[in-house]
Order: sequence, then C-alpha cells, then structure tokens
Amino acid sequence: MSEAVFPVPADVAARALVDDAKYQEMYNRSVTDPAGFWGEHGKRIDWIKPFTKVKNTSYDYHNVAIKWFEDGTLNVSANCVDRHVATRGDQAAIIWEGDDPSEHKVITYRELHVEVCKFANVLKEQGVKKGDRVTIYLPMIPEAAYAMLACARIGAVHSIVFAGFSPDSLAQRIEDCGSKIVLTADEGLRGGRKVPLKANVDRACEKAPVDSVVVVKRTGGDVKMVDGRDVWYHEATAKVPATCEPEEMNAEDPLFILYTSGSTGKPKGVLHTSGGYLVYASMTHQYVFDYQDGDIYWCTADVGWVTGHSYIVYGPLANGATTLMFEGVPTYPSASRCWDVVDKHKVNIFYTAPTAIRALMGAGTDFVTRTDRSSLRLLGSVGEPINPEAWTWYYNVVGEKRCPIVDTWWQTETGGILITPLPGATALKPGSATRPFFGVQPAIVDAEGNILDGATEGNLVITDSWPGQMRTVYGDHERFVQTYFATYKGYYFTGDGCRRDADGYYWITGRVDDVINVSGHRMGTAEVESALVSHPKVSEAAVVGYPHDLKGQGIYAYVTLMEGEEPTDALKKELVQHVRAEIGPIASPDLIQFAPGLPKTRSGKIMRRILRKIAEDSFDSLGDTSTLADPGVVDDLIDNRQNRA
Ligand code: PRX
Repeated sequence: MSEAVFPVPADVAARALVDDAKYQEMYNRSVTDPAGFWGEHGKRIDWIKPFTKVKNTSYDYHNVAIKWFEDGTLNVSANCVDRHVATRGDQAAIIWEGDDPSEHKVITYRELHVEVCKFANVLKEQGVKKGDRVTIYLPMIPEAAYAMLACARIGAVHSIVFAGFSPDSLAQRIEDCGSKIVLTADEGLRGGRKVPLKANVDRACEKAPVDSVVVVKRTGGDVKMVDGRDVWYHEATAKVPATCEPEEMNAEDPLFILYTSGSTGKPKGVLHTSGGYLVYASMTHQYVFDYQDGDIYWCTADVGWVTGHSYIVYGPLANGATTLMFEGVPTYPSASRCWDVVDKHKVNIFYTAPTAIRALMGAGTDFVTRTDRSSLRLLGSVGEPINPEAWTWYYNVVGEKRCPIVDTWWQTETGGILITPLPGATALKPGSATRPFFGVQPAIVDAEGNILDGATEGNLVITDSWPGQMRTVYGDHERFVQTYFATYKGYYFTGDGCRRDADGYYWITGRVDDVINVSGHRMGTAEVESALVSHPKVSEAAVVGYPHDLKGQGIYAYVTLMEGEEPTDALKKELVQHVRAEIGPIASPDLIQFAPGLPKTRSGKIMRRILRKIAEDSFDSLGDTSTLADPGVVDDLIDNRQNRA
C-alpha cells in the first residue's frame, strides 16, 4: 500500500469550511458531548415542532433501540424544497443530463416545488396514505427525485428498487414491504440501450400484485396498460393541483426502506427515519464536499442505491445545492462523457466509484486530456477500497493534481458517510478513507471482540450511534439485532475488515463476511447460490469473491451438477443467463467452475475459506484442511482450476 501523503493545498484550505484545528475541536466535542453537538447541528434543518430530546440510543444486545430528536416534528420534502423557494427559487435544484448528450434539463427550486406537489397529489389520488409503502422502479430521470420527495411530503415510505434488478427481485421487494403501488417508466435508457421497465413490472406483479402502477413516459416505447390498475403519470399530473401541504412527521417516522444484500438469506429492508437521517445526510454533504453556495455538484450514483438517496437527492437538496443527475453511463457515447458533462455544466465537485475510475483509466488518458475540466475543485470516491493506482490516475490525470480526493467509507446501513477526509482539514493517503466524521467513533476489534489500540488490524465496529444510522430491518427487528449487534456485543459491526496506521488513519480492507463487493455493489453469496440451485441441472453451488481488475471483486461460482448432467461451456452460459434473469445483470457470475464435490466439514458446512483461496489461485495457503470430510475434494478443485482455460 502506498504511504505517500498529500497535504491540504493552500487554496483548498483558504476557502474550506473546516481546517485541521477546527476538525479536531468539532470532532472532540462531537464525541465527548454528543447531545450538545447534535442538539446544535440538528438545527441546520427546519423543524415544525423543535426537538427537546437529542439522543436516546442503546447498543445493548438485549435492547437495541436508536432514537434521535425523538420529540421533534418536520417534513423532509419541505426541507428539501419549500424552504429554498423564497431564497433561491430561480436557482437550479437539479440539472438533469440525459443518456443522449443532446438532452438536458434544468429544474429550479420553484419548479421542483410544483413537480413534487403534483406527484404527491397523484399518490394521494391513488389512495396512498401516511405510512404506506411505495415501490419506485424508475430510471435516472427527474421524476425519480420528484417521486421520492412526493412520498416524503405525504408521509409515505419509499422503497426504491434499482432499475437493473429482475422482475423476480422486484416482486420479492414489493412483497416484503407490502406495497400496493409501483412507480415506473415505460422504458429506461442507458448507453443507448432500452430497458423494459414496465414489462418487468408487469411480470413482477404476476407474483406480487399491486393496486396501481403509475407509468412515466420516457422513451414512448410500446407498453401494455392494465385497465383499472395502470395510469400514465403525465395524464394524472395534468389533473391535480400544483400545491400540496406537507404532512407533519415525527423525527422517528420512517422515510425510506432500501433493500441490501447480506451474508445470509434474502435481502434486508434497511429502514431509515426522517429527522436524524436528514440532519446527517445534509451535514456530511456540506462538510465532506465542502459544499458552498453556487457550487455545481455531481454524484454519478443511481438513485437505486443509498449513495443516490443521500448524495444526489436528500443531502444536496436539504442544503439548497445544485445537484446533477445523470441518466447514462460513463462510457457512452465515449469514455470522455463524464468530462464532457463536467465542462458542459461547469461541475465543481465530482463523486464517483473506483470501478468507474478503473474503467475510464483502462480506456486511455486521451479521453480525459482532450477535455478542459478546469471547473473541477474536488473529487470523491465511494463504494469499495480504491487501489492506489486508480487513486493516482484520478488525482494526476482527472484532477491535474489540484483537486483533493475524498475517499468516503460508509454503507447503506449508515445513511451517510462515516470515515472520510475533509478537504480543508485532512492530508490524504491514497487508499485510506482517513479519519472519522463528526460523531463517529470507530474501533478495531479482534475475533473475540477486544478493542485493539494504536496501529493495528482487525474488524471494524462503531461504538456509539450517529443520527443517520438505520433503525431496524423492516418487519424484522430481531434480524437487525442479530446482524449488527450480536457478533461483538455492545458495538455496531460493519462487516468490514480494517487497518489503522500510526497516524490514526483508517484503511478499509474489504468485507469479512459472505458479501462480495462487485463494482461497488453488494451481493450476498447466498443469493447467487440460491439462484444457481434453482436451475434444474444444478445440485449444489458455492459462491465466493475473487480479485477482478475492473470490478474490484468478481463472482466465482463452484457448481455441482445433478447426476448425469454434462459439464459443458454451453451450460455455463445458460447458468449465467439464469442468474441474470433471477436477480439481475449485477449478479452475473464471472467464472463458473464445475465441481464434482465441494469441501465440507464433517457436519456438512461448506468451507468457503478454502474456496476463496482456490479462486484467488493461492493454492499454497489453504490452511488446515484436516477437518474436511473428504480432503481429496480439494485436490480435484485445484486440478480443475489449473486446467481452466
Ligand atoms: O465494504 C464496504 C464498501 O461497501 C460496503 C457498503 O456497501 P453498500 O451498503 O452497498 O454502500 C455502498 C455505498 C456507501 C462497505 O461495507 N465500501 C464503501 N465505501 C468504501 C468501501 N470500502 C472501502 N472504501 C470505501 N470508501
């Protein structure tokens, strides 16, 4: 790992909200007096009834309960829209850049207000009430942001399902949260290709029926509308008033559910609530990106992931920022696209994922250097550890050595960024997420849960709550407790491994559970395995991650076939297709190895540690194989791996 240090540039320090001394002072206060600190910063958003209680949280395994600002009331949509209309009504709230470079649209805060109110009225007309769950399956079009804010306005709980998920995955998520309505589009458009969203919804609804489907016309493609269930968004919005009173919500009322993969079972519905989440999302957005009035900010994530929730929509809009929303992909029509968009809209802050950086790096430096990029001031990274080579390219070529990189570590569960540099305060080390944000108390524990001091390596836990933390797993609080608070009692367990160096900098080393991080997206190995074994020719499957040049981690599947089935290349292709259809393209196995037997303990448990080593080609460090029921299986697997084309 690189040990180079990049000090804060003088011009960055000069304009920054926080320098190192101020960071130290604020951080110390935030952890010695959390109630005082957050009581003050909680006022950064508008409350209908101000809170008098700040923090009421318990990590006690027998009684995990997390409440922030619990007696305050507010409306999240009023905070993201209404309160800016008087002061910055004509300012761009959202700059939308279409998949096709000829298409873009600017939505001012005044216009956003109208659109959100109308969508909220449409939802009401469809019978949606406070507390109801609304499934959103939309592409990256402004209506996705309107839909989120419309739900927040009337107190409905949105559950966004990434538009790349399959009908089955969508059905599972509709069913789990019991939503009776889906918001979608005729088709999505990405990299010039159409995605049949409405058709997917129709198939999902065969398994998980809903009362209504609202359809935004994006491409004008041919879709079937079901009488009495489906309505066109443009027709419905034409008939409703352009104002809608925001609902008064308690700080702890749910704002959204977002499904995420874990090491076991089906995806969990991560539940975030209103007050603490918004305070945390807006505060991190302002300080981490050093966001100041007039800045143009672009986060390339999709609203289907948490990054899109917190750092395209809620954080920036709560701050009255201008947020850019991009429908397309970084390589279409060419690998210059991101930088062309930066130049076109004079973007100052650019936030993306290492997988995109690696792909653009692979396409060649000319695609970057032929663009101007002089508007860029700050770069960001999220989703997985950034390898020093990609960091250096991002820093030298994209940012021309003048833009700091904020490597932000966080999770769907954390609601916002937890470990990150602050541009005016933190010297950078390539590959390190550096130091904790205000109020965040990370610790590194050994396998027994003992806290390790100083420079060390182990498992990353957080010892106390912060306002943006998830509150529960929707409908299954016990699963919440078991997943995050049972491994190391008294702490929130992140599932990540981590090293801390002598300067107190944190270096995330990756997941230590059965979760694979594919292109910055989480995929549970159990989910891919269950998709594989649902194929009639598969008897058993074990899935592990392995190092992948572009994706960070790739999906490696060991598959045991049913008696008598032929292990052919055609079958491998069929299995990949099967997983794509079951879960979605992001779950496609990169490598499939047919395995007549899998390494199991005598009690029948698959020893994934060994499978991981074989997938990584680390045959010499398999560790103890003596507890295997049939140690010979390992030699077969290694032979097969080495004979692989
Ligand atoms: O392993 C960590 C990795 O992504 C996981 C969280 O994934 P998800 O909930 O999908 O959220 C991704 C976007 C916030 C973490 O447990 N991860 C995320 N950011 C970083 C990271 N690993 C290293 N460095 C990061 N900056």
